[in-house]
Amino acid sequence: MLTYKKPKKKKTPAKKSLATQVDIVPKKGEESWLYSDIVKEHFFTPKNLVMDASKVKDYDGLGMVGSPACGDMMKVWVWIDKKNDKIKKMQWQTFGCASAIGATSMLSVMVSENGGMPIEQALKIRPQDITSRLGGLPTRKIHCSVLGDKALRSALNNYFLKSKQKNRIVEEHARMIDKIAQVTDHDIEEAVLEGAITLEAIQKKTKAGVGNPEVMPEVEQLIKFYREKYFG
Ligand code: FES
Repeated sequence: MLTYKKPKKKKTPAKKSLATQVDIVPKKGEESWLYSDIVKEHFFTPKNLVMDASKVKDYDGLGMVGSPACGDMMKVWVWIDKKNDKIKKMQWQTFGCASAIGATSMLSVMVSENGGMPIEQALKIRPQDITSRLGGLPTRKIHCSVLGDKALRSALNNYFLKSKQKNRIVEEHARMIDKIAQVTDHDIEEAVLEGAITLEAIQKKTKAGVGNPEVMPEVEQLIKFYREKYFG
């Protein structure tokens, strides 16, 4: 008699979770592109993220910046505890990459945890403060972590303007360093953030000082300043 045998189920290889797929494993001798577990946690479940900007109401300040390095924009909203001059809440929205999402999510937690951060302290947050809470970021991604921090300062300036505290506004004007090559201190800052941390690399990218040797000492000083500011 013929008996029916149930076909054996083929074993399908276990699918990798999305969280493990986002890492790019560096080749031997290359810089690490691995994201820490904290970055992944903030990227996959971002804190204080705004999905629909039309629903954000009654905020005290709004700031927006774009990154010349990659064209991504970042919007930040803040709510202020006026009595104590502290940030009560920060929300944000971006078209940026995983690093920008992870870093800004972490920043929004840092400024609102433990009853809120005093505004003066929030204005002094450095990119290293965010990256160290994230357990690090690939060096080439540091410029993404600066986006949220710049947008926060812009939102606080907007709050100062709206609340008639113009004396507290921190202007971030660009200063011309090389008139011949039309290079400002902001251009050098952006180039450093994109990984040009030697004089040679800066000159290749910006042409600063190439036809104007008198500005070289200042260019070198700025490279040193921004290298220490962003990479410690
Ligand atoms: S935000 Fe543009 S590359 Fe990260």
